[in-house]
Amino acid sequence: MEIHTLIGVDTKDILKVFNESFSDYFIPFQLTEEQLDSKMLADKVNLGVSVGVFEDERLIAFILHGFDEINGEKIVYNGGTGVIPEKRGFGLTKQMYNFILPVLKEKGINKLFLEVITKNIQAITSYKKSGYKIERELYCYKGEIVISNVNNNLEIRELQEYDWSLMQSFWDITPTWQMSIN
Ligand SMILES: CC(C)(COP(=O)(O)OP(=O)(O)OC[C@H]1O[C@@H](n2cnc3c(N)ncnc32)[C@H](O)[C@@H]1OP(=O)(O)O)[C@@H](O)C(=O)NCCC(=O)NCCS
Repeated sequence: MEIHTLIGVDTKDILKVFNESFSDYFIPFQLTEEQLDSKMLADKVNLGVSVGVFEDERLIAFILHGFDEINGEKIVYNGGTGVIPEKRGFGLTKQMYNFILPVLKEKGINKLFLEVITKNIQAITSYKKSGYKIERELYCYKGEIVISNVNNNLEIRELQEYDWSLMQSFWDITPTWQMSIN
């Protein structure tokens, strides 16, 4: 078994281990190569700080890490962790972190974030073992916004450009990584 970064690893191999790892996930979650590409782009995934476990050259576990600099601070975001079902319970997530944390430290990265569904106990157990601590709990909503009370004095127009510092002044909370400005 070998652990190294995902530099030079083909997206097709990442896709395979991703879909195998999420094959028994409680929410149906299987990606096409195109969807994985756009997820990696949106999460700012950097293969140089992402990790894989290889057994006989087959990728059996992974962590996809995004990287960004926010307010001058270097931050890594875990955009996906997976271990194929038959290799779970051996602490591979912790082993991947044991490998990558010194690499991140070397690059001056001391802060890592992730978002996990509260009922994903296996993942939370594993993340805690790797040193993560719960910082906040988020409510997630989905649906369609229906505007029922229209004020005729207001005009609603599509934005032509995004003045992020103005829009940030409306924020009550910092959005999740996947809903961030990027
Ligand atoms: C989350 C995940 C990556 C952790 O895998 P792992 O590194 O093998 O996990 P660990 O060895 O740290 O074990 C964590 C917990 O999983 C559970 N577990 C142990 N063996 C297991 C097995 N064979 N099958 C399933 N779960 C098992 C146990 O509760 C264990 O905790 P314990 O060691 O205190 O008993 C893996 O479960 C997975 O790929 N899940 C599906 C994808 C997913 O949910 N990703 C995270 C999205 S945020």
